[in-house]
Amino acid sequence: MLHTISKDLGKHQQQHLLQFIDELDKPEQDKLLNQLNDINWDSLNKLIPEYVLQQPQTEIPRDLAPAPYFPAVPQDVEQQKLYEQAEAVGTQLISDGKVAALTVAGGQGSRLGFDGPKGTYPITPIKEKTLFQYFAESIARINEKYSISLTWYIMTSQLNDSQTKDFFAENSYFCLPQSSVKFFIQGTMPTIGYDGKLLMKDSSSLALAPDGHGGTLLALKRSGSLATMAAGGIEYISYFQVDNPLASIVNPLFLGLHHLKKSEMSAIMLAKTGPHEKLGNFCISGGRTTIIEYSDMPDELAEAVDANGRLRYIAGSPAIHVISRNFVEKLTANGHLELPWHRADKKIPCINSAGELINPVEPNGVKLESFIFDAMALAKKTMLLEAKREDEFAPIKNKTGVDSVESCRKMLIARDRRRLAQACIAIPANSAVEISPRLIVDDADAITYASNNNINSITTSLEGIYLK
Ligand code: UD1
Repeated sequence: MLHTISKDLGKHQQQHLLQFIDELDKPEQDKLLNQLNDINWDSLNKLIPEYVLQQPQTEIPRDLAPAPYFPAVPQDVEQQKLYEQAEAVGTQLISDGKVAALTVAGGQGSRLGFDGPKGTYPITPIKEKTLFQYFAESIARINEKYSISLTWYIMTSQLNDSQTKDFFAENSYFCLPQSSVKFFIQGTMPTIGYDGKLLMKDSSSLALAPDGHGGTLLALKRSGSLATMAAGGIEYISYFQVDNPLASIVNPLFLGLHHLKKSEMSAIMLAKTGPHEKLGNFCISGGRTTIIEYSDMPDELAEAVDANGRLRYIAGSPAIHVISRNFVEKLTANGHLELPWHRADKKIPCINSAGELINPVEPNGVKLESFIFDAMALAKKTMLLEAKREDEFAPIKNKTGVDSVESCRKMLIARDRRRLAQACIAIPANSAVEISPRLIVDDADAITYASNNNINSITTSLEGIYLK
């Protein structure tokens, strides 16, 4: 193998990757050779000149237009009827066990200054439950409510796979049946220095990085998860990001509309708070739904307004999707799927030609990632449904400020206070509230809880109100 790989690397001007091979023991040599053997040079040789040696230009199609969507509140009687039918259909799909949940959790909490899988970040305002626990408790309640055992797929990456699995094991899967929590691991891509040379983490391994959440689709196929889904009768995947604890795990209206409209991939959309909010923008071009990432959206388009002064490209993506299993099968049928690549300039720890470890203070190379939303452009049929931000989107991206731990906790408290108010349960003004989703997972649950327990007011304790 060494001889063939060495010849290949010579052809691709990447001989430096074998520079330290003679100093390695046999297992280390094998590890490196296996990594090198896995590289798809045909693809990389195209990507390096296009994405690394130059700044790729995102082409904005000339026919770009805002994507149509179903509004959060039905606009007429006909739409009202459609929403009622969709909600009933969605409820049935969940009850019939045709829906699985999927959380993408391959990222680390680095922007939060947190060293660990993002899902293990303690987020809830009073009990400081982790993101994973919060989702798990929601699923436990969903199981009870619909008399099902919802399968929860969690995508990890090489960065955090074992830590994530250990975390679930240490916490006894938060009382979910262990067999209903299924981990699968996303693919990797080599990282590349600005000179086009692949970077090495140490003398026996490449500096590999997760291939972006676009890797979810192929990873579902390669891990055998798609086959398991098919065998278990799963037709729809309810997809959300680990950084958004407000996301509904399963949303009957959204699922029902997806089904009724025969959509292959659907998305929740939110009205953006301003032209430059860091959300992907839902657009159409050539009759296909396209998401232009916030970083790629030209200012004049982001800031364009309609006759009423409203943003023309108002529809932002909270990265919540329903995806038909059939669609993923179709896309990945031959074991390959090349979604467009996106360049991210990063500070990538690596060794230099003397074998010394460098921790760069400035970006020193490129990570290439694919994005799941690019699959929407490959779907024959898509569907967008508007949601109210306060019901679906409280991402934690930063420590403070916009989309932060702080803002997320405030939104969780506000949502739980709203639920108690809807259920006519009086609570002291300004007190923090945290409701375990094991008890109340949606608005209807709050009302049932109030009437079943004959509660119409709650007094606060020092730490705030915690309902479990
Ligand atoms: C993302 C979306 C953006 C959307 C916003 C909503 C991208 C490129 N953009 O932005 O369109 O409006 O969220 O919050 O995602 N992840 C993996 N594996 C990877 C990369 C990411 O599992 O290889 C997961 C992360 O764990 C996280 C999520 O994907 O849950 C989003 O990644 P992040 O890098 O935070 O994306 P944003 O730039 O915030």
